[in-house]
Amino acid sequence: LSILDTEFIGRNIKCFDSLESTNKYVLENSENLEDGSVVIAEEQTGGRGRIGKPWKSKSGEGIWMSIVLKPEIPLNKAPFITLISGAALVDAFRNMDVDAKIKWPNDIILNGKKLCGILTEMKAQVERIECITTGVGINVLTEEFPEDIRKKATSLFIEGCLTDREKIASEFMKSFERMYKAYIEKDDRKEVLDICTENSVLIGKEIRVIERGEEKYAICNGIDVDGNLIVTDENGHRKTIFSGEVSVRGK
Ligand code: BTN
Repeated sequence: LSILDTEFIGRNIKCFDSLESTNKYVLENSENLEDGSVVIAEEQTGGRGRIGKPWKSKSGEGIWMSIVLKPEIPLNKAPFITLISGAALVDAFRNMDVDAKIKWPNDIILNGKKLCGILTEMKAQVERIECITTGVGINVLTEEFPEDIRKKATSLFIEGCLTDREKIASEFMKSFERMYKAYIEKDDRKEVLDICTENSVLIGKEIRVIERGEEKYAICNGIDVDGNLIVTDENGHRKTIFSGEVSVRGK
């Protein structure tokens, strides 16, 4: 990318016309990919979403990319990287006048619909992380979504926003690098937590939480320093949600 302004994220970019999944490619080829490399595909034939769901990744319609990370951190510090990607996407969009919001932990929302998804996966042996990949899917040029997701999904084109994929990817990498470096080098999480709090679609709302298949309602209070969701349940008890399916009640 000619306009890229980073130190190490995306200095090495591998572009493919078609891959099954950029995340899968990174995890299978991590020995040959240096820290900070980025893998991008025009099309994914088996794009992966969260909890085993597929992620539609048609040719040329979006940015389907995965960042290769090889940090020396304990396993329990890895989940925060999803929040870094979310905060970096929101920050990048805001710098381009796109009013994106974050739905914890991994959805980026524009005008009430899902614009991007994030899937962070890793390869570890015993307690040592070999490679983490944070994959982001950004719907850029999609003109129409299939009937089943039309009410829930959107693209920058549909919302009348900018659709310059190089610019969007570069802005995202720049924001990601700044927040990732602060986290890894200084354990500084402030910018990420501020962005995730200030631009949250859940905080202050009554939300629906699915825990072990059970549906419950709670008030969303905020996120803690590790990036977990803090809620108050129906009995007035404070609880921490570590991962999972949450949504605003009624939506
Ligand atoms: C979700 O919202 O469920 C997460 C979707 C993540 C999609 C991206 S596209 C690039 C990367 N490669 C994949 O196979 N998935 C992620």
